[in-house]
Amino acid sequence: MPVVTRQIGPCFAAEVEGIDMRKPLAPDEVAAIHAGMDMYAVLVFHDQHIDDEQQLAFTRSLGEIEHSTGASLRAPAEYRLPTTFADVSNLDQHNKPFARDDRRRLFAIGNRLWHSDSSFKVIPAKYSLLHARSIPSKGGNTEFADMRTAYDALDDETRAEIEDLVCEHSQILSRQQLGFFDLTDEERARFKPVRQRLVRTHPSTGRKSLYLASHAGSILGWPVPEARAFLRDLVEHATQRHFVYAHTWRVGDLVMWDNRRTMHRARPFPAHEPRDVRRTTLVGDGPTAAQVD
Ligand SMILES: [Fe+2]
Repeated sequence: MPVVTRQIGPCFAAEVEGIDMRKPLAPDEVAAIHAGMDMYAVLVFHDQHIDDEQQLAFTRSLGEIEHSTGASLRAPAEYRLPTTFADVSNLDQHNKPFARDDRRRLFAIGNRLWHSDSSFKVIPAKYSLLHARSIPSKGGNTEFADMRTAYDALDDETRAEIEDLVCEHSQILSRQQLGFFDLTDEERARFKPVRQRLVRTHPSTGRKSLYLASHAGSILGWPVPEARAFLRDLVEHATQRHFVYAHTWRVGDLVMWDNRRTMHRARPFPAHEPRDVRRTTLVGDGPTAAQVD
C-alpha cells in the first residue's frame, strides 16, 4: 500500500497511512518516510500495535539508534527498558508508577518544559519515535512547536543578531527553572553543559531553524540574566499557539519528530496512573558547535 500523508493542524504535522511496523520496511517506504519528515517535521502513525523488537527494527531501518544512558536519575540497576530505549514513562522497573515525590519523577517533570531531545548531548538527537503502550485516562498530550516557521517569522534584525550565537545546554538548567536542585555531585558532573548553535541549518532542506530548549541557560559572551531573558522571549515567540500541534494520544500511536527543527513538551496527567510511552531515538550527524574540554 502506498504511504499517504495527510496534514493535521499546523503545516508541519501529518498523519501517515500505509505503513505496518510489524513488517520490515521496503526501501521505497524508508525513502517516503524520510521525505515526509523533510516535508513536515512531525509524522503520526496510528494503530501500530508493536512490541519492543518491532519498534527497534522500524527505528533501525531509518538510521542509527542513540543509546540512552545517564540521561535521567534512574540508576542502571533500575532501568525498566534496554538502553536502546529512552524510558519516558512514569514507571519504575516493576512497572509501578513512581510515588509523587520520587526524585526520578520530579526530574522527569522537566519534560513538561519546551525542549528538543538530547540537546544536552554534544551530538544531539535527529528523530525521536515515541510509541504509546498505555496512556492515562486524561491529560498527557505532547505538544510540538515548529522552529522553522518561528525562525522565518523573526524580523531581519533579530535573525542577524542570532545567526552565530552559541548557547550552553544542560538538564541542570531546565530543572533549576522548576525549583529542582536535588542533584548529587556525580549527577552534576554528568549533566555538565554542552554548546549548541542557536540557529541550525537543516542538512536535507537547507532551511534554517531556531534551536532552543529549556536546557539552554546561557549564550556565550552574554551576561546570564540578559541571555536568559532573551532565550525566554525566543521560546515565547516560537511556541505561540499557531506554531503548535498538540497530539492527543491513542494506544498504538507512534509519533516521530525531527528534533533539529521542532521543540516539544509533555502535558500533565494524573500521577498515580501509568503512562507507558517508549522512545527510540536516531542519533544526529554531529555536534552543532565546537566544545571546550
Ligand atoms: Fe522529549
